[in-house]
Amino acid sequence: MRFLIAGGGGFIGSHLSEKLLKKGHKVVAVDNFCSSSRKNIEGFKEHENFNVVEEDILNGVSIEGEIDYVLHFASRASPKNYQEHPLHTLRTNTEGTLKMCRLADNKNAKLLYASTSEVYGDPEKHPQTEDYWGNVNPHGPRSCYDEGKRAGEATLRSYSEKNNLDYRIIRIFNTYGPRMMKNDGRVVTNFMRQAKNGKPITVYGDGTQTRSFCYIEDLVAGIIKSTESENGKVYNLGNPEEHTINELAEKIKDLTGSDSQIVHRELPQDDPLRRKPDISKAKRELGWEPETGLSEGLEKTLKAF
Ligand SMILES: NC(=O)c1ccc[n+]([C@@H]2O[C@H](COP(=O)([O-])OP(=O)(O)OC[C@H]3O[C@@H](n4cnc5c(N)ncnc54)[C@H](O)[C@@H]3O)[C@@H](O)[C@H]2O)c1
Repeated sequence: MRFLIAGGGGFIGSHLSEKLLKKGHKVVAVDNFCSSSRKNIEGFKEHENFNVVEEDILNGVSIEGEIDYVLHFASRASPKNYQEHPLHTLRTNTEGTLKMCRLADNKNAKLLYASTSEVYGDPEKHPQTEDYWGNVNPHGPRSCYDEGKRAGEATLRSYSEKNNLDYRIIRIFNTYGPRMMKNDGRVVTNFMRQAKNGKPITVYGDGTQTRSFCYIEDLVAGIIKSTESENGKVYNLGNPEEHTINELAEKIKDLTGSDSQIVHRELPQDDPLRRKPDISKAKRELGWEPETGLSEGLEKTLKAF
């Protein structure tokens, strides 16, 4: 099959591109590298079945030839980065998603959209199932991303009402692994950088807030299984093992053998207190669940770091 991956040069997109190439597919990655490094694709950019188109999806993308599948992963994803570029983030997930719908429709291709656990906001329901509607501040510092993704989901739904679009949505929970940008402010890379440099490890709030961390190889396996799902389906993809931020800091300190101190800073506005995916639907319908434990995944990530 020939896949077009919007955001195919990013952290998740590049691992996905590489995996699809290994499976014998063709991949066209469309990326403007606004939140990632071109190094991500270095290992396979010369592959005969790989092409990269350096373009902002907001400018429109014209691709010659047939496309079987559009995977829409383009979006700044780290809070630090999207809060520096709120309008671009919002537009990429709304106007950009509409452009991806039109492209898939014109090519008679299926579409998969990478949404996020952030659509649940600071959840009042725990763990989060796909039918939970969320608790999101529409006018907060993170709304460009959270509401952008919610509007992106609504765009697929609305477009497909009047057009013959075959789509599915995955809501990705915190994923980590090699190729994450070292300084983009995401918690795993922040702690690793600080621990390795002997700097204080900064925990926001008292550190009792929880997150679930999915290793990239597990996520990519889940994404590939989701591509085969029925039209209109929504799946949570993430690791349901829940850890406090304090636990993560301690684990990274241990694994790096660092003597950094753990220090606490004020919790940013609208930072969710609990996050844990209910993945029973993905287990039941896709036969997918993550296999990599946190220590194993962190060790692999540290090696690449
Ligand atoms: N990593 C996670 O934990 C996580 C969690 C939930 C959802 N997601 C979603 O998965 C997708 C990929 O995230 P990631 O972690 O790989 O982030 P990333 O920043 O590494 O990748 C995103 C890629 O999209 C590209 N991009 C952004 N806007 C673009 C535009 N307008 N035109 C063309 N390219 C553009 C960036 O340059 C980058 O290469 C995003 O949609 C993100 O919202 C990620």
